[in-house]
Amino acid sequence: MTDLKNKIALVTGAGSGIGRATSVALSVKGAKVIVTDRNEDSGNNTAKKIISNGGKAVFHKLDVSNSSEIETVIKKIFDIEGSIDLAVNNAGIGGNFDGIHKLNLKDWNNTININLTGVFCCMQNEIKYMLKQGAGRIVNVASMAGIKGVGGGSAYCASKHGVLGLTKSAAIEYGSHNIRVNAVCPGFIETEMIKQVPKKILEFNTLVNPMKRVGNSKEVADSIVWLLSEESSFVNGSSMNIDGGYGNV
Ligand SMILES: NC(=O)c1ccc[n+]([C@@H]2O[C@H](COP(=O)([O-])OP(=O)(O)OC[C@H]3O[C@@H](n4cnc5c(N)ncnc54)[C@H](O)[C@@H]3O)[C@@H](O)[C@H]2O)c1
Repeated sequence: MTDLKNKIALVTGAGSGIGRATSVALSVKGAKVIVTDRNEDSGNNTAKKIISNGGKAVFHKLDVSNSSEIETVIKKIFDIEGSIDLAVNNAGIGGNFDGIHKLNLKDWNNTININLTGVFCCMQNEIKYMLKQGAGRIVNVASMAGIKGVGGGSAYCASKHGVLGLTKSAAIEYGSHNIRVNAVCPGFIETEMIKQVPKKILEFNTLVNPMKRVGNSKEVADSIVWLLSEESSFVNGSSMNIDGGYGNV
């Protein structure tokens, strides 16, 4: 059985949806969870939820669009906790959906900055400390949009393709340093984020999905926990589809 006792696990965007479910799942396996989010109220609520269930958690405000905040907060976490064993780079936004000819550069930059540059900057800092401690495991939350095209969602799609590229490159660079880096590619998952998705698109997805439904956050969280555990010890640079088989349609 997966045992993450004495592991320090950092989760970004942990105030809601997949990040919150992953934080809870990691704590159930014994990890101390460093809950981070740009939203202080929701992040604090995740930490409180874990603590009231008997788990260990602490909240730090972290906006992944701010590279100097990332550097400062991750250093502070390492200094306080003494290690960063596991990291889940999950924070992300759907961004504005529009045709490429209509998408403005500000919206493009905002989506790329949070979803891709944010993951890059977090990885840079996490890996720095993982190299120091001689081990580490990272999971980046990409998307089915990291594999397939998304009409009207070019910025989101490009950002998630980028996350998979980063994941594969990091796996090659750091595998020999006992640092494994993997990604998950969820299909539509019932969270705040999909409330922005037009109903027609969700209905179509459910219709063509082999399992005829959307997923839930716990289903993604449990796969992330496995990728962070010893049970996946030879899995490195992979991207796991968590989509009910939609990626094969
Ligand atoms: N829900 C889906 O269908 C789905 C599918 C594939 C991938 N994903 C990915 O899963 C991840 C989590 O999304 P979710 O569905 O749980 O959405 P969500 O909106 O429920 O949660 C996102 C969390 O990220 C935080 N966040 C946003 N911008 C941030 C920033 N700049 N810095 C720090 N925190 C920030 C939010 O405050 C929120 O707590 C995202 O990367 C998303 O792209 C979601």
